Amino acid sequence: MTTFEEIKEINGNNIVKLYDNKKQSLLDKINNGEFMKIQAPMVRFSRLPFRMLCRKWGCDITYTPMIMAAEFNRSESARDSDYTTNQFEDQMIVQFGVNNAEELCAAAEKVANTCSGIDINCGCPQRWVMKEGYGANLLLNPDKIYDMVKQLNNRVPVPCSIKIRIQPDLNKTIELVKRAEKIGVSWITVHGRTSAMRSSHPVDYDAIKLVKENTSLPVFANGDVFTLEQANTIKEKTGVNGVMAARGLLSNPALFMGYDKTPIECIEDFINIYSEYGGLHPIIFHRHLIYMLYEYQNKNEKSEFNKIKTVSGILDYINDKFLF
Ligand SMILES: Cc1cc2nc3c(=O)[nH]c(=O)nc-3n(C[C@H](O)[C@H](O)[C@H](O)COP(=O)(O)O)c2cc1C
Repeated sequence: MTTFEEIKEINGNNIVKLYDNKKQSLLDKINNGEFMKIQAPMVRFSRLPFRMLCRKWGCDITYTPMIMAAEFNRSESARDSDYTTNQFEDQMIVQFGVNNAEELCAAAEKVANTCSGIDINCGCPQRWVMKEGYGANLLLNPDKIYDMVKQLNNRVPVPCSIKIRIQPDLNKTIELVKRAEKIGVSWITVHGRTSAMRSSHPVDYDAIKLVKENTSLPVFANGDVFTLEQANTIKEKTGVNGVMAARGLLSNPALFMGYDKTPIECIEDFINIYSEYGGLHPIIFHRHLIYMLYEYQNKNEKSEFNKIKTVSGILDYINDKFLF
């Protein structure tokens, strides 16, 4: 595991050039119309080892979990625990939970040399996030979004994207997207549910299509992508520039390569990456494996595996049952 401060030491001044190239090459690919398969930001889960795994198994872009910018700016220990990367990560976007330009620019400056872009979370509907004026609350105060994007573009040389949910009045979503485009957003991800809708609610792909038709920005569709076939259908249906998956990739990080369940080699890769780079709490490491193995285990096996308490116990179990 390498913190970004350590990477700078390893690479010296070359790091700036390296990441400038990474930023530009990702933007070029997106703007040239290359279809993007994207691993969604996921609190607790989309940390370094999982991002590396997804990148290796078919994702073109990966996102960190939402990082609270204010805390990140204030505390070194928050920075060390919330953000780790290494020289092998590329096309990785850092997502911030933030509601003002000062905090966003300060946080972005700290990571800009080690990522390919900054995303503002404008879609998290959790009560505490809404109450503090972050996440989907920003959709109700879009001027804050425009101000953050504008100031970030002026002050930090890094592409800036936003991840939004649709609103019950789609005119408001269209208006927001048009203004975001004018102000200089690089791309937009649209989760096709409103803030009030749970993940079991069907995704409104017509709304995503409408957004795409009303902007010349690259648009990524998010919601209910569990197979490559679904990703392709959404592409056809909406005309978007990419699709983003969250829960689908948790249960099958190789879904964008066309696998219908996690290949055992992918699980082996995950264990190797985790062993080499760390960057995950053991409980989350275990949780990832529970998701990836879901299709392989019956009820009793699931319950036996869930009860294991140590990393060595988890590794022994997987070695015995899956890696001969
Ligand atoms: C465990 C988990 C954590 C999430 N954390 C974030 C987050 O940090 N930032 C964010 O924008 N969305 C977050 N989301 C929402 C997803 O990025 C995505 O928008 C949503 O799950 C819909 O996609 P899906 O149908 O592919 O799961 C999270 C979702 C899950 C399941």
